[in-house]
Amino acid sequence: MNLLVDRIGELVTNDPARGRGPLGLLRDAAVLVEDGRVAWIGRAADAPAADRRLDADGRAVLPGFVDSHSHLVFAGDRAAEFAARMAGEPYTGGGIRTTVAATRAASDDELRFAAGRLREEALRQGTTTIEIKSGYGLSVADEARALRIARELTDETTFLGAHVVPAEYAGRADDYVSLICGPMLRAAAPHARWIDVFCERGAFDADHARAILTVGQAAGLGARIHANQLGPGDGVRLAVELDAASADHCTHLSDADVDALASSATVATLLPGAEFSTRSRYPDARRLLDAGATVALATDCNPGSSYTSSMPFCVALAVREMRMTPAEAVWAATAGGARALRRDDVGVLRPGARADLVVLDAPSHLHLAYRPGVPLISDVVHNGVKL
Ligand code: NIG
Ligand code: FE
Repeated sequence: MNLLVDRIGELVTNDPARGRGPLGLLRDAAVLVEDGRVAWIGRAADAPAADRRLDADGRAVLPGFVDSHSHLVFAGDRAAEFAARMAGEPYTGGGIRTTVAATRAASDDELRFAAGRLREEALRQGTTTIEIKSGYGLSVADEARALRIARELTDETTFLGAHVVPAEYAGRADDYVSLICGPMLRAAAPHARWIDVFCERGAFDADHARAILTVGQAAGLGARIHANQLGPGDGVRLAVELDAASADHCTHLSDADVDALASSATVATLLPGAEFSTRSRYPDARRLLDAGATVALATDCNPGSSYTSSMPFCVALAVREMRMTPAEAVWAATAGGARALRRDDVGVLRPGARADLVVLDAPSHLHLAYRPGVPLISDVVHNGVKL
């Protein structure tokens, strides 16, 4: 069975060799999908016959969103903390321990059901690839459990035992780091592709982060870092030093941080949902782009700092608040996310790529930022299957 997505008004391929500009835009196009892959792309007038047809009727089609940063495995919410912030309280990350307590108390099925619902919610909004972190278990058994559940939803799983030092290790950060680097990593690694550290004042310093990421890399995991979110620090430079796939947040950057990112393969992943929900200043995307850094956009979906699963919302924020052009933001939410996960089979539409497509209820990708808050995702094709 194959599927022809036909009569596409504007097709975003993210393949500059195929179409106009960095988004590789084609007009009046069609895409043939076979066995979960893109089999052919061309002019609608030249489209081959197919078993089934999805008529885009002049609407825009783009690669499915690649959300390269989320924390979907948790229990409870922190709506009261959000309300307190909107009344003037600052965000410090201290609420993470509240979610850790709720998550530890939840059953496997409760966690599975809650994470599965969020995954569905994201998929309906066009997210066809998602990275999911642990980080609300913070014991050997609870971190391994979170990763097992995450693995049921995605291949892009990340071990974040180094989210904060849990209450039972208060004042004994060195002991907790030893636990992470030994038994916790051994239990987590079989279920994870990546390892992440929250490198920030109040969480883990650069020496602890380096130790954890280095031992994780030796165990075969790729590195990523929560860096420079709440203040300036060493996270971004450490990410570049370790050839991490991504430095995430990047809100407080020095010139040296920007230069380091620009001359590296480490992607700057910006998470504007976090600034929105913590009422913080947004990262300076323009500065990163103008310096030549690769920028990705992701949701950071979590119950504390950014309880949104919507990539379209992040695109709109990036354009309005971070001075990205709509084309830059759409690229960052698709191809940029793929770079942050070191993938070349998603975030792009070319023969051989995974057949993940979003049909917008709009004639152009510009509408994602131009019509914020409007449900513009009319159809999603994931792995070649129309939802
Ligand atoms: O990426 N900053 C660290 N971790 C999450 C927030 C977690 C929470 O507040 O529960 C983040 O923003
Ligand atoms: Fe995060």
